[in-house]
Amino acid sequence: MALLDKHKAIETHATLLMVLAFLVVTIGGIVQIVPLFYLDNVIEDVKGVRPYTPLELAGRDIYIREGCYVCHSQMIRPMRDEVTRYGHYSLAAESKYDHPFQWGSKRTGPDLARVGGRYSDEWHQDHFADAKSVVPESVMPPYGFLFNKVIDGQYIQDVVKTNAMVGVPYTQDMIDNAQADFQAQADPNADSAGLEGRYGKDAFGNAVNVRNFDGQPQLTEADALIAYIQVLGTMVDFSTFTPDPNR
Ligand code: HEC
Repeated sequence: MALLDKHKAIETHATLLMVLAFLVVTIGGIVQIVPLFYLDNVIEDVKGVRPYTPLELAGRDIYIREGCYVCHSQMIRPMRDEVTRYGHYSLAAESKYDHPFQWGSKRTGPDLARVGGRYSDEWHQDHFADAKSVVPESVMPPYGFLFNKVIDGQYIQDVVKTNAMVGVPYTQDMIDNAQADFQAQADPNADSAGLEGRYGKDAFGNAVNVRNFDGQPQLTEADALIAYIQVLGTMVDFSTFTPDPNR
């Protein structure tokens, strides 16, 4: 009973209770969080995951600027209904180059973590111009103005550099050629060997998508956004992926 008596002293002194509760939470937190900094495999390396190309990175910035995350998540949970609808559950490695990540939980529209390659560029062009033209019951707002905003990638080198600064493994070569790669990716007639060499192949052996994403002669924000959308969830080959058994 002696122990219970001592407990009474704690429960009747608000300050003491707070200090001790804080201590307990701190110890619990340290035990949970600190090991994560020392484990090598907190984020398992997965074949095929590469940093975004400059054009995809620009598209991602437009995605964030337009608040697409307000209606769309990018994280497939490991529940059966989600996996049946969207495909393999999301891996941490798939968003390890996302700063900030776009996981989210608000789903006015569907999850977009694996939407890449699911629709044609033309479908996205129609859908962004006027979602109701392809999905009559859609509540997604129109984004037609993106097709009129011509961009030249003038600032993209700084964006790539900033991402490198926070840990995305962009090489000096990638930084130096950022603007050229930006323009080459949306131009099927350009020499894209440099771009393809720098960003390599995904787990399926496919090089970076190079094409005219928005279907117009000029390079616009729509090109960048569609390039980004079309790469989402396409880098890892889940027919050969096996989770690390040591985890
Ligand atoms: C007001 C909420 C809302 C906003 C904001 C929004 N969407 Fe959507 N989106 C939806 C809804 C609802 C659907 C499902 C109906 C449809 O396909 O239009 C959808 C569907 C989609 C799809 C097709 C997904 C699939 O698997 O069929 C894509 C791609 C998409 N949105 C991209 C975007 C992008 C990119 C932005 C930002 C530029 C955006 N959305 C902004 C609500 C929204």
